[in-house]
Amino acid sequence: MSKLPHAQWSSKMTFVLAATGSAVGLGNIWRFSYLVGDSGGAAFVLVYLACVALVGLPILVAEWMIGRRGQANPINSMLKLTQENKRSPLWAVVGLSGILAAFLILSFYSVIGGWSLNYTLESVTGTFNGQGAEGVGAFFSGLLASPVTLAMWHTAFMVLVILIVGRGVTKGLEGAVKTMMPALVILMLVLVGYGMTTGHFGEAMAFMFSPDWSALTRETVLAAMGQAFFTLSLGMGIMLAYGSYLGEDVNLIGTARTVILLDTAIALLAGIAIFPIVFANGLSPGEGPGLIFVTLPVAFGNMAGGTLLGLIFFLLLTFAALTSAISLLEPTVEMLEERTPLSRVGATLVGGVAVWALGLAALMSFNVWDDVLFFGLNIFDLLDTVTAKFMLPLTGLGAILFVAWRLSRESVSQELGLSGGAETVWLFVARFVAPVGVIVVFVNSLL
Ligand code: PHE
Repeated sequence: MSKLPHAQWSSKMTFVLAATGSAVGLGNIWRFSYLVGDSGGAAFVLVYLACVALVGLPILVAEWMIGRRGQANPINSMLKLTQENKRSPLWAVVGLSGILAAFLILSFYSVIGGWSLNYTLESVTGTFNGQGAEGVGAFFSGLLASPVTLAMWHTAFMVLVILIVGRGVTKGLEGAVKTMMPALVILMLVLVGYGMTTGHFGEAMAFMFSPDWSALTRETVLAAMGQAFFTLSLGMGIMLAYGSYLGEDVNLIGTARTVILLDTAIALLAGIAIFPIVFANGLSPGEGPGLIFVTLPVAFGNMAGGTLLGLIFFLLLTFAALTSAISLLEPTVEMLEERTPLSRVGATLVGGVAVWALGLAALMSFNVWDDVLFFGLNIFDLLDTVTAKFMLPLTGLGAILFVAWRLSRESVSQELGLSGGAETVWLFVARFVAPVGVIVVFVNSLL
């Protein structure tokens, strides 16, 4: 039915799977839970949920809309729409900053992907069998202290990413997403079940859902917003690129709701699974980026069939990390391929090796470079902060401002198929609620 020249997703389902594959990753499990713990719990969770609904949803729709109308890579899509609507080509910066953000994020994402890979293999050898919090903690500290071991796992993870992206088989992974995501959800439910037996489940639920608003700082609000962007893969041109393959018959708002519900459910489940273990073992929720790596093995090490379940869990986590990581490398590769004489394989190698090298600097901030600080942050935290808290929200803001204020009303109603009251609500949210939300959080955090 469509008159679009560009290749398209074979079905809506495929598209939802690909978008979910990018969205669901370490962000939901590793990053979400450690941020909740670091920021004192429920207040962060609630602000995060508000950000996802009021800012994340409209921006996800806006990015898909730009992609579907532009029918090209992020930069070219933006250029095309600015021409069509007689707007300044400067809006294309939205596409460019997204590519840079994805590049920077992958460098530290791959380090954590490496941890996950390491934990998968350690589960095979039974390292965590019967271990308590102390044993697992000691294992993890040992890992962090060794730049060589960290580099090895980071390298292994990047090699996997490069192999997949270089062969251009990313589409083939969608089938795997379909089976592995539900499996991941089931395992998290098992973990939640285990949490209920620890006697600290209530405490964990209170920690996650009963807010102490007095503990909420500007910093926390900014972190919650950053997490909303990070977990939905927003502000990076990725969803924009995916949108360019989207058929006209797909309902953008409905699809966004599905992807967001899935993504959010997985993050909340991760929190509900992890905090009972934290409290039961006298660990600190503010453990930092290592949180899931010092808690989950304790649970697996002490439950019936835990060795096998732990192995499957870390395998699935690694897989979820891989499907997100390939979506992070793709923009850089696509740009190198289109803008330099490099072939697909050449572009993947050059882009991948550059990301890998930056990742080495990130992993050294856990050991030899732990005293190298910029604005009080080590290299790992700096990469994470600059991208998640600043680049992603700003790029996303650009996308929503463009769609809400610069795209013709006809284009918007054509894309969304809304009319009457529903269209008014959309316009209100897209023009005011989402952008003002982002701006207020920013300005506040800078004061
Ligand atoms: N959304 C992914 C996650 O939650 C990470 C990611 C961020 C992937 C940005 C692509 C782009 O893990």
